[in-house]
Amino acid sequence: MYAGITETRSPPITVPMLRQFKQDGRKIAALTAYDASFAKLADEADVDALLVGDSLGMVVHGKRSTLSVTVDDVIYHGRAVVRGSKRSLRIADMPYATYPDPKTAFKHAARLIGEGECAMVKLEGGGHVIECIRYLVDREVPVCAHLGLTPQSVLRLGGYKVQGRGDAAAQALRDAARAAQVAGAEMLVLECVPSPLAAAIQADLAIPVIGIGAGPHCDGQILVCYDVIGISSGRRPRFVKNYLLGRDSVLDAFKHYVAEVREGAFPAAEHEYAE
Ligand code: KIV
Repeated sequence: MYAGITETRSPPITVPMLRQFKQDGRKIAALTAYDASFAKLADEADVDALLVGDSLGMVVHGKRSTLSVTVDDVIYHGRAVVRGSKRSLRIADMPYATYPDPKTAFKHAARLIGEGECAMVKLEGGGHVIECIRYLVDREVPVCAHLGLTPQSVLRLGGYKVQGRGDAAAQALRDAARAAQVAGAEMLVLECVPSPLAAAIQADLAIPVIGIGAGPHCDGQILVCYDVIGISSGRRPRFVKNYLLGRDSVLDAFKHYVAEVREGAFPAAEHEYAE
C-alpha cells in the first residue's frame, strides 16, 4: 500500500538534487526540526529536507509569533539538528529583521551556514528580499524563498490568512515567485495559497515548489514536525494531518508522512484552500 516507504537508505541530499527531483517528478518530503532526537527520526524516515524554522519560537519556546526569534536561536537549534541527521538537507530560517539589506543578510546567512552548519537559508517575502537573494546567491549561499503566507508579516497582514486570492494578488505572487527564481533561489516554499495558484506557480518555475497549505500540485510538501504527530497548539490549521493517529511510534508516523507525500496522497482535498 505505502509503496513510497524506502527500506534502503539513499545518499545525502544535496542542493543540486532538489532541481533533479523536480525534473524526475519525484516529490520532496520536508519537515521542520529543532532538536537531535526529532532530526534523527526524520532522517531515518527518509525525510529529504529539515527546516530549522523560526516556528521554533512558537512551537518550542511558546511565543505568540515568530518575530522575536534570533539568529543565535536558529544556530542553537540548527546545531542540534545537525547532530541528529546524516542524510536530510538542512535549511535554516533567517529570522525577522535579519535581512533588511543584502549586506546585513549576508552577515547573518554566513553565520547560519558556518556556525549553524545548514546547507541553505530561507527568506520570507518578495520586494527588497529579491535583492538579498541575488546578493546571497552571488556569494555562494544557497537560498530557499518563502512566499504566500509569510508569518514574519503577521503584523501587516493582521493574522495568519490565506494569500493570493483574487486576480491582482495571484499575479503579484506569480511575479514574486518568478523574480525569486531569476535572482537565483534554488527552492520556493509556498504557504497557504489556493491550490490552482500553487499549481500555476509550480508549472511556471524550474525550481521545486514546496507547499504548506498549497495543495497537491507542488513538487513537495513541508509540515511542522509537531503537527505531524498531533502536538498543535491553538486552532489546528486545515492543511495539517496527524500521522500518529492509529500508529504507535513517531518514526512510523514520519515514514507514513513521507510515503503519502511521495505518492501524492497528501495533501488530500480536505487540506486544500479554494480560490
Ligand atoms: O518556520 C517554519 O516552520 C516555516 C514553515 C512553516 C515553512 O517557515
